[in-house]
Amino acid sequence: MMQINIRNSVLVISLLAPLAVFLGERACALSLVYLNAPGRMQTYANFTSHEIKFASKIRNCEDALLIEPRGLAILACDPGRETWNTVMGDFFDQAEPDANAELYAYRYAEPSLPDADSLVRIEVAGFDSELRTIGIEYHEPSSTLFVTNHPRQGPRIEQFYLDLETLTATHVRTLSHPLITTPNSIVALSASDFLVTNQHYFTARDYPRLLWAFESYLAPPLGSIVHVRISEDSTLDAAVIARQAYPNGIALLNGTTLAVAATNKRLVYLYSISNTERTHPSLKFESSIWLPFLPDNLSVSKGGGALLIAGHPHLPSLNAFARSRRVCHRPDVLTDGGQHALKMCATAGAASWASEWTPEHGVRHIYSGWEYPSSASVVRDPERGVGIVAGLYARGLLVWWD
Ligand SMILES: *[C@@H]1O[C@H](CO)[C@@H](O)[C@H](O)[C@H]1NC(C)=O
Ligand SMILES: *[C@@H]1O[C@H](CO)[C@@H](O)[C@H](O)[C@H]1NC(C)=O
Ligand SMILES: *[C@@H]1O[C@H](CO)[C@@H](O)[C@H](O)[C@H]1NC(C)=O
Repeated sequence: MMQINIRNSVLVISLLAPLAVFLGERACALSLVYLNAPGRMQTYANFTSHEIKFASKIRNCEDALLIEPRGLAILACDPGRETWNTVMGDFFDQAEPDANAELYAYRYAEPSLPDADSLVRIEVAGFDSELRTIGIEYHEPSSTLFVTNHPRQGPRIEQFYLDLETLTATHVRTLSHPLITTPNSIVALSASDFLVTNQHYFTARDYPRLLWAFESYLAPPLGSIVHVRISEDSTLDAAVIARQAYPNGIALLNGTTLAVAATNKRLVYLYSISNTERTHPSLKFESSIWLPFLPDNLSVSKGGGALLIAGHPHLPSLNAFARSRRVCHRPDVLTDGGQHALKMCATAGAASWASEWTPEHGVRHIYSGWEYPSSASVVRDPERGVGIVAGLYARGLLVWWD
């Protein structure tokens, strides 16, 4: 009898222990709802000066990347995300989709240029279907620009040839594959192979809302990191090389270390990446970085090789803010909404958080606050002392000077 009891309790403990770890981990991730609530969240502004630029010209720029030698930032901005967001699962019926997302170049190294000259729209050539951008990636040696696209026709990646002299992006091909389901961020390894994250297994478009929510909040390791090789005849050879919870931003820290955000776990995972001369590289989990916010996109600053992490400190505010933009960013809809809409738009806010990590110093915070909303990406040119934060649902960009 006694023995059975002991066995039973061993069994119970061995079942409960992982459950306790799981619940503890979930509690840590979900505690941000309390810790980062408006008024309670710790704020930082670790720079000399800052400005919110181009607020009347661009909005919803989820991604920014730097081409340091030219002092150029490339941006992808999609006002249409207000009515069609495949990541957060917000879809509003419309007779006609919104106008396509646009690409921009910002000459950040010449602060004396007037705004009208420092922000230039990139001409898109040879492309006439819907463009709903999320992540962008530029492979400099081959002038290849990869853009993750979430149009109504289904998820895909658009490949462009980006001429930096004329600022023209010429469409080369559309890449689609059964393993490219919710393409989010891309890191190019060469002109013809790249890694891409699929942040959900149960996509908001194809599965019941409950499954999507289950995956978002319980964080099972179902999202994938896929390696794609484009062969000479344009066919794709793709393979899942790792699975984890909510893989979002992805960046190569150096030749052997890959960083991938696990948004709903408050972690950035570091993997060692090996290319043992096989078709697809392999990943091995090494360690993780713990954050006071939900990490979205990652980038690496050229000089010091620091990992830059932007993300979302307070999800309830972000969700409400995201849904309200369809009204607040559109004067015609706002007018129709009357007093109620005006009040909502005057009070809705979403926080931002941008930090930097190095193995020597750990995590250091650059900006956190409510003045600029919904940070999704942060990039930094340490030599020129300039940084940019881009917000998923923000007007303009936050630009800071060290
Ligand atoms: C995040 O940044 C990387 C470059 O560091 C880029 O390749 C990727 O597409 C971006 N993704 C998003 C969702 O912003
Ligand atoms: C790459 O970065 C990781 C993480 O900072 C570090 O542990 C590793 O030593 C670096 N490798 C090289 C070759 O620099
Ligand atoms: C602000 O930046 C400096 C220089 O990078 C760093 O030493 C400091 O720790 C940062 N402060 C915070 C609060 O992270």
